[in-house]
Amino acid sequence: METKIFKKEEIPEAVTLLKAGKLVAFPTETVYGLGALATNEKAVKGVYEAKGRPSDNPLIVTVSDEKMMSRFVDQVPEKAKKLIKHFWPGPLTIILFVKKDSLPTAVTGGLPTAAFRCPNDELTHELISKLGDPIVGPSANTSTKPSPTTAQHVYHDLNGKIAGIIDNGPTEIGLESTIVDLSVDQPIVLRPGEITPQEIAQVLGQEVLMNKGTTQTKGIPKAPGMKYRHYAPSAPVYIVDKEEDFQKIPQGPNIGVAALNPVLAKINSDNKFNLGDSIDEAAHNLFGALRFFDNENHIHEIYVQGFSKGNISAAYMNRLNKSAAGHHFLAK
Ligand code: TXA
Ligand code: MG
Repeated sequence: METKIFKKEEIPEAVTLLKAGKLVAFPTETVYGLGALATNEKAVKGVYEAKGRPSDNPLIVTVSDEKMMSRFVDQVPEKAKKLIKHFWPGPLTIILFVKKDSLPTAVTGGLPTAAFRCPNDELTHELISKLGDPIVGPSANTSTKPSPTTAQHVYHDLNGKIAGIIDNGPTEIGLESTIVDLSVDQPIVLRPGEITPQEIAQVLGQEVLMNKGTTQTKGIPKAPGMKYRHYAPSAPVYIVDKEEDFQKIPQGPNIGVAALNPVLAKINSDNKFNLGDSIDEAAHNLFGALRFFDNENHIHEIYVQGFSKGNISAAYMNRLNKSAAGHHFLAK
């Protein structure tokens, strides 16, 4: 099966495929997602298979609006309503208790909760509205590889394994949505994204915790995806925390370097990847950089700029840390 690329006019064709239980990748403002009808257990199982993803890792339920979400929830909590009003459509995923048996176990991983997201993308909004039912939406990459920020990335990983990809150009943000758990008394951010815990706290008028990766409920890791190695090219990745340390990293034809433009301008390297002029641009380009070097077989080590300031730095460092397995470059 050759995977078909769909443009805006071809959304009805993609709707038909999803209705028939087929897989179609879709654009969002964060990264591309891999869609299947969320109410069709068999279709959802196909998503795990195409991604090569462990099946105990639950999937996001992607909806067109609050009304569609409310079909799966006994009563939408006040806190959720506030966040939805402020941030949807947008890069915030909300975890809520769901009605028993309203979603297949393949979606929830057997948890009493589900993760809901309403992306800010015109084509995807049209897709789900026309479908009339939610679609699951994990990132449309092979499990453990960097998330896809272009339709071409999706094609590279999943061609032949899925029916289609809706192409709406490169994604805007480039890092996945913020996940906030509202199934607990004190809301907690399980995965950092562009929307910060401070912004959420401001809307809720309540303190919001930040998961440090240790929170567990009865042995189940919160945001189960957290326990797997992620975003990883085959070559080892090293985080370079200080700009001046780029002068001290190893040199040679097998070394890849990804950093902001002004940093790259000061160093000699055959394999430079320009992350842009700001941390927001670096967030937008990070996964593309990791993928670029992963496709260059002669690259044996990758050095990537780290950041400590800026709203998106927590999300950026969270992804970079996982792809580097926590390894920082230590200058001698
Ligand atoms: O920006 C995004 O959120 C993208 C786009 C495509 O929408 N999607 C995405 O999905 O990043 P995925 O599956 O790669 O990440 C979803 C995370 C996983 O780590 C999963 O374990 C967690 O959400 N998750 C899903 N349901 C959960 C639940 N009920 N409780 C805790 N974590 C949950
Ligand atoms: Mg993912």
